[in-house]
Amino acid sequence: MGTTGSAPGGARERFVVTEAERQVADLLPIEVAPALARATVEAVPFWFHTFALNRTEGIYTPGAARDHRYRVSSLPEDFAGMSVLDVGCFDGFYAFVAERRGAERVVAVDNEQYRLWVAARWGVELEGGEGFRAVHRLLGSAVEYRRMDAFALDGLGERFDLVYCFGILHRVENPLGLLRVLRARTVTGGVVMVETYGVGPEDRNGPAIRVSEPGEVYARDDFVYWGFGDGGLQRLAQIAGFSGVESLVDVEVDGHPRLMARLVA
Ligand SMILES: C[S@@+](CC[C@H](N)C(=O)[O-])C[C@H]1O[C@@H](n2cnc3c(N)ncnc32)[C@H](O)[C@@H]1O
Repeated sequence: MGTTGSAPGGARERFVVTEAERQVADLLPIEVAPALARATVEAVPFWFHTFALNRTEGIYTPGAARDHRYRVSSLPEDFAGMSVLDVGCFDGFYAFVAERRGAERVVAVDNEQYRLWVAARWGVELEGGEGFRAVHRLLGSAVEYRRMDAFALDGLGERFDLVYCFGILHRVENPLGLLRVLRARTVTGGVVMVETYGVGPEDRNGPAIRVSEPGEVYARDDFVYWGFGDGGLQRLAQIAGFSGVESLVDVEVDGHPRLMARLVA
């Protein structure tokens, strides 16, 4: 059964919380009182991630992201003592999971580019950071949020044990440059976990990188530039200075190829 959550206002689409997304959200039970849970769902004009605010009452945030189950088995069970950087965090689900699983320090950054494609795709105007702040408050979280471009990360002057690069590599104009920046922010022996847009079966193992037409992948979203095969991602990672690349997942979700890899710094 799906819980319906509203993306409030005008003709905004209503996202149904699927069983698939509940399973992912349940990795991070938040469990606040029903009235607060409902008020939080309504207070945020658009949710990207699904959060379990009150499982007994079935109150979940109506996230637009569909079915992240393929990511779950790649997440470390234990983040104890780690420092973690989440690049392009949006509502911050993966940063909060790292914190819940014992990370010592978590920094989450986003340049809030999503405001442009959320407005174009769903007609919702965002200030930026609304969902992240709401969940941060409910959790009493210590995750540090920065509105920051990934290409300015050197300014943090800090290195991390684990870096999430989820859903962003295909959205930057210079993916090799992004991998170089992330390598520089990762301790030697640390890991960058990449999740990104893939390619069709014919190109999956080769070194091709596919260039998308604006709006081709998601209607009215002009920020998806690339699709990667395992071979192409591996070569980029090697050029960027990673010593090892392990392919983790190659799937198709809702007709969209996605892949995940673990890059060792
Ligand atoms: C599709 S969302 C992915 C959200 C989350 N990481 C996930 O995978 O569930 C991509 C995010 O990357 C952010 N982003 C895109 N380009 C960026 C950049 N150059 N620097 C920082 N964030 C960026 C967007 O604003 C958006 O929040």
